[in-house]
Amino acid sequence: MKELLTVDEWEAAARDRLTPMAWDYFRSGADSERTLARNREAFARRALWYRVLRDVENRDLSLELLGDKLATPVLVAPTAYHRLAHPDGERATAEGARAAGALYVISTLATISLEEIAPVAGPRWFQLYVHKDRDLTSALIERAERTGCSAIVLTVDAPLLGRRLADERNGFALPAGMTMANLAVSAPASAAGSGLASYFASRHDASLTWRDLEWLRSHTRLPVLVKGLVRGDDARQAVACGVAGVIVSNHGGRQLDGAPASLDALAEVVAAVGGSTLVLMDGGVRSGTDVLMALALGARAVLVGRPVLWGLAVGGAEGVRRVLALLTEELSRAMALAGCARLSDITPDLVR
Ligand code: GLV
Repeated sequence: MKELLTVDEWEAAARDRLTPMAWDYFRSGADSERTLARNREAFARRALWYRVLRDVENRDLSLELLGDKLATPVLVAPTAYHRLAHPDGERATAEGARAAGALYVISTLATISLEEIAPVAGPRWFQLYVHKDRDLTSALIERAERTGCSAIVLTVDAPLLGRRLADERNGFALPAGMTMANLAVSAPASAAGSGLASYFASRHDASLTWRDLEWLRSHTRLPVLVKGLVRGDDARQAVACGVAGVIVSNHGGRQLDGAPASLDALAEVVAAVGGSTLVLMDGGVRSGTDVLMALALGARAVLVGRPVLWGLAVGGAEGVRRVLALLTEELSRAMALAGCARLSDITPDLVR
């Protein structure tokens, strides 16, 4: 595999390997892609006010999240349809994440089933889309528990799918032979527009409320996290519902266009609930210095979605491992240069 030095170089290499439809699906944001761009701009706008003379010779990036011991605070965000990136799909993602010591959040919309991922996976959580069919939803939760997932991540920013123009133009659908393996339904096909958007509209429960979060908590013995909020008051309500954590996210800029950057929302959510629950974030993280900024602003760990897909497209499991290792090495270097030997040394005063 060619030496690829940055996540952006992995992205360029992935683009060469993906079909135009898959590239568009993974890359796109919603509508005018303002929020997609904002996620990156929020990092560029801030500076790292590093400390000096702190003995950073030995650095420790390990952490424990809800009982899972991890080598890195860079986690794999839930993303759909990994077989569009590589024939081994989510099995390769799981193998790569395990080799990197990273946590993998498996998507409801995986193209390899939970049962097939389990034998090769390390620590993992399950991202849940609540379907109108509650029996199907309960069955998904039960399978996640049985196959070794250690938390449920409820996505709350997608009552319906954001409008991704490229997918609409492409008539986005899974190719023949590829299925949403956890749902036992075949590829969303659509005469016009995005097949995934049609699937969401017909099967997903857009009537979800905070009461359903209580329903979910009563249907699983696993900790529940809520993913996809940006507001302090929503985060407080999630904590009041007994969640184990919140993930500040705008779904990679793929849902409500015009939503704030995740990094800007992080500060608000940490101010509201930072002391009382686990706060994670995703959105726009493309380098170790980005990770450092997010941790400084109060995230315990970050999740990366597209970078993992680029690794998967270029090199399967080994590509995933290498992208996660790259971000982890970059974080380690950034920590040294900022005067931090441990994750707990990364404090809010580092970022302005
Ligand atoms: C699925 O969740 C997507 O954002 O495409």
